[in-house]
Amino acid sequence: PRVIYIHPNGERDEVEVANGQSLMLAATANDLNGIVGDCGGVMSCATCHVIVDDAFAALLPPPVDTEHQMLDYTAAPREAGSRLSCQIVMTDALDGIAVRIADPQL
Ligand code: FES
Repeated sequence: PRVIYIHPNGERDEVEVANGQSLMLAATANDLNGIVGDCGGVMSCATCHVIVDDAFAALLPPPVDTEHQMLDYTAAPREAGSRLSCQIVMTDALDGIAVRIADPQL
């Protein structure tokens, strides 16, 4: 399945992501700018903030308490579709998901 990462300048990167991989790890593995992932995916840095397209946001499991709390500490303001990309795990159902990379992350 594929993920479309939308950069702050509007550019898009389409990346093939294996099922089971997080969108944070897929982004850093592909050297995409803008997703930092300082904590390695354990919900303690909030530098992997993305805003998920409405159509796909409903397909994601809701954030657990820790993710909710961390989303209040993101560098860019929290939006309705804000998620930590380390907590978005790829599945076939998410094929074509578009996520906007928050700016700034730090
Ligand atoms: Fe640190 Fe997601 S990588 S919160």
